[in-house]
Amino acid sequence: MRVVRAETGPLRLAPVQTRPTAQVLIEADAGGGQLTATQVVIPPGGRMPEHDHGDSAALVVPLAGELVIASASQQEKVTAGVVVLLDRGERVRLTNPTGEPITLIAVFAAGGESANRSREMSGGREASDPVGDSQWAPAGRLDQLEEDTAVHLDLAGHPVCLARSGGSVHALLDECSHGQVALSDGDVENGQVECWLHGSRFDLTTGVPTGLPATRPVPVYPVRINGGGIEVALPARPGATAHG
Ligand code: FES
Repeated sequence: MRVVRAETGPLRLAPVQTRPTAQVLIEADAGGGQLTATQVVIPPGGRMPEHDHGDSAALVVPLAGELVIASASQQEKVTAGVVVLLDRGERVRLTNPTGEPITLIAVFAAGGESANRSREMSGGREASDPVGDSQWAPAGRLDQLEEDTAVHLDLAGHPVCLARSGGSVHALLDECSHGQVALSDGDVENGQVECWLHGSRFDLTTGVPTGLPATRPVPVYPVRINGGGIEVALPARPGATAHG
């Protein structure tokens, strides 16, 4: 037995109208797999938009209140004393239909395969390989991108998270590799972007995850500054990523 004490990370507001808050409580190496526990509070009438948990299996444990959790094939009303098991990649949305806040704990266990893959790619090579037949796309003015911020851009059909940190500008696919929500809605600090939903952090230069529960890198795109303008190199083929 090992006792792991919660060390709460920063409280994050989900970027939706009726804003849930999320706070990572525990990130622990469970010996062969990583575990993350996040506390989420959904206010009355609030919701978590549809998302999945990437390669992680997940447990959702309501502590207080009443929660509606829906997938493509099922909708359940759950209360304290019930545990919901979510398969890897299963997409769900959570709503609080009541007049009281609901508190839940979400526990994620990264799959062994993906954890191994992440270790193999820890140098970030796969995510940061330059694009062979890239096209440079204009992505706004440098003086309009504030330090430690990120913005979403649609560049020729590519969703791009353009972020500035430490004076450098970085471009990544605007999708968290854990649960397919926009990274540009997250917080930028110390050369990293933190996903608002479960708190995964990604190195802005390499796209490699530096904090759980994500284990797979996010594709990054080369950036250059041209006469005060920002340009991002995108794959020539529509829909392709920096992986080619
Ligand atoms: S969606 Fe889970 S950390 Fe980003």
